[in-house]
Amino acid sequence: MRAIDHNTITDAAIEQMSTTPDPRLKQIMESLVRHLHSFAREVDLTPDEWLKGITFLTEVGQKCTPFRQEFILLSDTLGFSSLINQLHDRRATETGNTKTSLLGPFYRQDSPELPLGECIVKTPRQQVVIYGKVTDVNGKGIPKASVEVWQTDEDGAYDLQKESQAPGAVPEMDMRGRFRTDANGNYYLRTVVPLGYPIPMDGPVGALVTAQKRHGFRPSHIHFLIGAPGYRELVTALYTRGDEHLESDTVFGVTDSLVMDVKQDDPNSPMKGYPSIRYDFALALAAKDGSGRVGADPSQITKVGA
Ligand code: BEZ
Ligand code: FE
Repeated sequence: MRAIDHNTITDAAIEQMSTTPDPRLKQIMESLVRHLHSFAREVDLTPDEWLKGITFLTEVGQKCTPFRQEFILLSDTLGFSSLINQLHDRRATETGNTKTSLLGPFYRQDSPELPLGECIVKTPRQQVVIYGKVTDVNGKGIPKASVEVWQTDEDGAYDLQKESQAPGAVPEMDMRGRFRTDANGNYYLRTVVPLGYPIPMDGPVGALVTAQKRHGFRPSHIHFLIGAPGYRELVTALYTRGDEHLESDTVFGVTDSLVMDVKQDDPNSPMKGYPSIRYDFALALAAKDGSGRVGADPSQITKVGA
């Protein structure tokens, strides 16, 4: 009989799990147990503290709905989603592809298909054009690539956060759309410059961020999910230069190559009379490492009535 103490317990747990037939599950769980145990030893975790942790995780789960994903928010605020994105980028088999950024908790599948040039905002105040090319890593345009866009309005709210909806109703789609690049890989659309906003602060994750005296803001940004057959799906976002929270994003999504400039008189803009943003996205060839989405449409994670 093994003498169990605060060190040998780790080997005992790993030994018992060694029967796991799936090699990847076995590797992940062994490592998780090793690191989790080391963490508890390092901070000398007490039963009261662990119970607090369990209460916190329970509240995170209870806050999730088909329109709200508190676990993704937790992963984001710990820098974990960003880390997983960096590891995903590192696995690309080609260099020169656009960097990944967070999918975030406000992505919705089935956003409306719109023709090039259309505005994604139902009631825009000041419109801007976003345009550019979707290319391979050598700059060759990719025709018919899917370009999904979503963002907040000029006041910093996503459609999923609008309070005008009846309780429980599916919020109307707004400030999002799906486009297809033309025969040369060009895309262009109209939208508004979004406002930076605080992450949802009315749940357990917000309470943790407040307890840490963090500001809770994300800088102004526009999300993109771009895909084409044979290429690696790209989940990214463009950030507005000049935003005061660019250097201190609560969820660590910003990197310098994703900062965009709004120009007043760009002669190359395909739609004149609006300020414009130009950004070209480069996709690497597909690899066998699965999706780059850290997260999903919350309605696909938390089924109604489940
Ligand atoms: C967002 O960009 O929509 C977002 C990402 C992470 C946490 C909260 C919001
Ligand atoms: Fe966002």
